[in-house]
Amino acid sequence: FELLVKGLMRLEYRGYDSAGKDIVLIKKKGKVKALDEELYSKCVAAVLGTHFGIAHTRWATHGEPNAINSHPHRSDKNNEFVVIHNGIITNYKELKKYLNSKGYEFESETDTEVIPKLIKYVYDNRERDDLSFSTLVERVIQQLEGAFALVFKSRYFPGEAVATRRGSPLLIGVRSQHELSAEHIPIQYNRTPREKNSHNRPEDSSTAVSVTGDGKGMEYYFASDASAIIEHTNKVIYLEDDDIAAVVSGKLSIHRLNRQAGEDPVRAIQTLQMELQEIMKGNFEAFMQKEIFEQPESVFNTMRGRICFETNKVVLGGLKDHLKEIKRCRRLIVIGCGTSFHAAVATRQILEELTELPVMVELASDFLDRNTPVFRDDVCFYISQSGETADTLMALRYCKERGALTVGVTNTVGSSICRETDCGVHINAGPEIGVASTKAYTSQFVSLIMFGLMMSEDRISLQGRRLEIINGLRTLPDMIKKVLALDKNIKSIADELYEQKSLLVMGRGFNYATCLEGALKIKEITYMHSEGILAGELKHGPLALIDKDMPVIMIIMRDACYTKCQNALQQVTARSGRPIILCCQDDPEVSKNAYKTIGLPQTVDCLQGILSVIPLQLMSFHLAVLRGFDVDCPRNLAKSVTVE
Ligand code: BG6
Repeated sequence: FELLVKGLMRLEYRGYDSAGKDIVLIKKKGKVKALDEELYSKCVAAVLGTHFGIAHTRWATHGEPNAINSHPHRSDKNNEFVVIHNGIITNYKELKKYLNSKGYEFESETDTEVIPKLIKYVYDNRERDDLSFSTLVERVIQQLEGAFALVFKSRYFPGEAVATRRGSPLLIGVRSQHELSAEHIPIQYNRTPREKNSHNRPEDSSTAVSVTGDGKGMEYYFASDASAIIEHTNKVIYLEDDDIAAVVSGKLSIHRLNRQAGEDPVRAIQTLQMELQEIMKGNFEAFMQKEIFEQPESVFNTMRGRICFETNKVVLGGLKDHLKEIKRCRRLIVIGCGTSFHAAVATRQILEELTELPVMVELASDFLDRNTPVFRDDVCFYISQSGETADTLMALRYCKERGALTVGVTNTVGSSICRETDCGVHINAGPEIGVASTKAYTSQFVSLIMFGLMMSEDRISLQGRRLEIINGLRTLPDMIKKVLALDKNIKSIADELYEQKSLLVMGRGFNYATCLEGALKIKEITYMHSEGILAGELKHGPLALIDKDMPVIMIIMRDACYTKCQNALQQVTARSGRPIILCCQDDPEVSKNAYKTIGLPQTVDCLQGILSVIPLQLMSFHLAVLRGFDVDCPRNLAKSVTVE
């Protein structure tokens, strides 16, 4: 129980509103802690003769957050089959209608519940008695449409676990008393039902391969994310879509229905580098605060091994083999959601300058809604911290179908976007637990800058500009430390603002993205209304919002937009606005018109957005704490939205 509950607590940041357990089905609305209390109150005396439990923390997609709708879901009142599910079954209505017509009754409003009912239906109508659990599951997933990561348990197969995935992440942790004898697990390709095998063995049997001799002293963990298991083992296997993993008598086997040409016939046992303390809060109040203060290191880690500050050479290893093809492209399309989209907006101008190519930045959902034309000579970037965001993943598949070259910029090894793109860059920011993205943003920002520098390596006319940027990147970690040192000043401003209803953030040019990102941080965790406004648009509407009571943050840096921003400042103060101004330190010109100023060190114009976003990250953190909200788990949101 402890292992399962702790594992859920590690996953809670991914999406949480209710949780449950197996056999003695215990399900509870709310956070995992509530389930933990229920568990010990209900079955402290229960001794279950099983070494296999399943647990799930849910972020609702169908059906409100409550105990009935939480997982595991079951086939019937006797729990013949139970299952936990991450994802969304898009054809659940048809399946539910069919199963209802066969007399199966549903108790929840979820899409998931069709799965245990379906496997029971397959079992009840089996043509032979020696069908394996994995074969039953194989038949079930052939009927499912949508995204799923599933773990099954059944009274008919005591002690056996079967897990499978399509479109949602699922990995297997392997822990052994003995040295693992294999570095990989071969895939078992099951025969199709028509083909009878010559030895009269049950057709679906396949030798379960144990990674050590007899399967004794083995422990397996199935999880959506490595943070749930890292304290038990760092040996993991990433399942691919439509893999079916089964544990029978301590032995793990991986099955697929049939082998596609060129498909890898094994699954590697990888060693995770993530350490437990990386996912612990340390002496910070929240993961988000820890991650904000980690940015000098995370930005440095993003550049490590990629920028040589002696030779001013920039190499992104993951793109090397595709650089020629990328250089031949006619257009860059940078796609993401939420904060990841803002990283695209933040680097668009410098990418246009360094690559001399048109650069489109797209919100993945809108890009798909428009059926945007995509061509073979397009290079499409997918910015995604989790590498699992459904909209971004769908956009990736849409572009791949149209022959574009796809580049992933992710923070999660083994993630779907990471594996499905032609090439990519790992931003190396370390695990980001806080739902509101912070260090991933600045590392995505730096990664895209490095791509621009790599693309312009042999452009004589851009060497001066490149050198200026590389020098800016070298001093960036120290500059970030200087900005973090303003935390107290920012907290005192938050003390004045936290009871306000709205907070506008204005800027333009290289700092427009900062306004969007700052406004998103504020709304995400303080639930205040906040809006990022392009200062150039002020007179086309937003100025009507300005009066002495409307809190406004303005970003005015000494860059090409400095004069235009000062013009905006005049417009705001002329309407009795009292702006809090993010500006370069020692800028008396701007400070004299400010209600409050936050003076930042000045760096290269295209990097300034990395510094100017930090005060807004800190501001949103302090506002959320002052308003008494859970910074790491804001209401209604999830760290990774793996459903469309
Ligand atoms: C949201 C997260 O659900 O998804 C944001 O709360 C994130 O923090 C957005 O920016 C996109 O997620 P990802 O993993 O694709 O960057």
